[in-house]
Amino acid sequence: MTRQLPDFSALRRNLLRWFDHAGRDLPWRQGPEGGRDPYRVWVAEILLQQTQVSRGLHYYQRFLDTFPTVEALAAAPQDAVLKAWEGCGYYARARNLHRAAGLVVAQGWPQTYDGWLALPGVGPYTAAAVSSLSLNEPRAVNDGNVRRVLSRLLAEAQPSEKWVQAQADALLAPERPAAWNEALMDLGATVCTPKAPTCDRCPVRAHCAALALGRPTDYPAPKVRAAVREVRAVALLIGTPDCAVLEKRDGTLLGGLSGLPSEVLGENEPPAEALARLCARLNATPGPLLGTVGHTMTHRRITLEVYRAEADAPCQQVAQAALSRLDHKALALGRMPGLFGL
Ligand code: ADE
Repeated sequence: MTRQLPDFSALRRNLLRWFDHAGRDLPWRQGPEGGRDPYRVWVAEILLQQTQVSRGLHYYQRFLDTFPTVEALAAAPQDAVLKAWEGCGYYARARNLHRAAGLVVAQGWPQTYDGWLALPGVGPYTAAAVSSLSLNEPRAVNDGNVRRVLSRLLAEAQPSEKWVQAQADALLAPERPAAWNEALMDLGATVCTPKAPTCDRCPVRAHCAALALGRPTDYPAPKVRAAVREVRAVALLIGTPDCAVLEKRDGTLLGGLSGLPSEVLGENEPPAEALARLCARLNATPGPLLGTVGHTMTHRRITLEVYRAEADAPCQQVAQAALSRLDHKALALGRMPGLFGL
């Protein structure tokens, strides 16, 4: 059941007052409120979509050091962009950021929410965040933090996307949209956390229906997750962990990244058959199994058997290529003592 918020203005005042002294000092929050540097904000919002702020800060700084301006990003080859994105996952984000940088350099910065939405890789969340933070446009963000905070404030256990957006729009402080959005994000990240919210420190506890019911962590109810698809594959380590034969992957899974030569197993296919197929393709002689590594993404869990192999094929410096975490794990198997004379 949804309770009506009694007093929006007191809620806004309390949250904004808290944000003005307790808001986090983050590197894209330089410059005037509502007039931040669009490049810094945009990169942060794309990077933080699947990464927590504490983890993302390091990657953010590395990316901005490599590409300090949108012009530098647009002018870079895609491989260099993927390399700077290494470790962040979801590489489609980096490819879109790169394409969009080219459009921004050609057409200028978007001046509205709709202008942002038209760029590749920019959805309603990012468009609302960037247009409010850099253009002061009154657009309410709706992400996981906002969903949790609003679900608790209003004791709505099963908030739909539409419901969250409608509540967020209604609550947005119209005269300070940028601060309001960031205040909600900070509250969700530091106080109204998923498992152990610190309600005694919450600036809007007086307005919280879930707290009044004594059960804040019951809101929102856990989402039913879509099944994770199992993908099994074999890969070859030819060369050494520092200088190995690499292939450019295609397809959407790890597309654009380099990795050890690999073959995905067909349904019910034994690994030995996929290995034979892979060795035939590369004209390689298989050696021993080095080990098995796994990597879980949102919808897929990949299990990779990594074999040592010999082939007359050119090796590449691993440090210079953009590799997925899965491939870094696979290469680490080759660093085990006893192999390669280590
Ligand atoms: N998470 C995503 N975007 C953010 C922002 N602008 N500030 C703090 N946390 C965030």
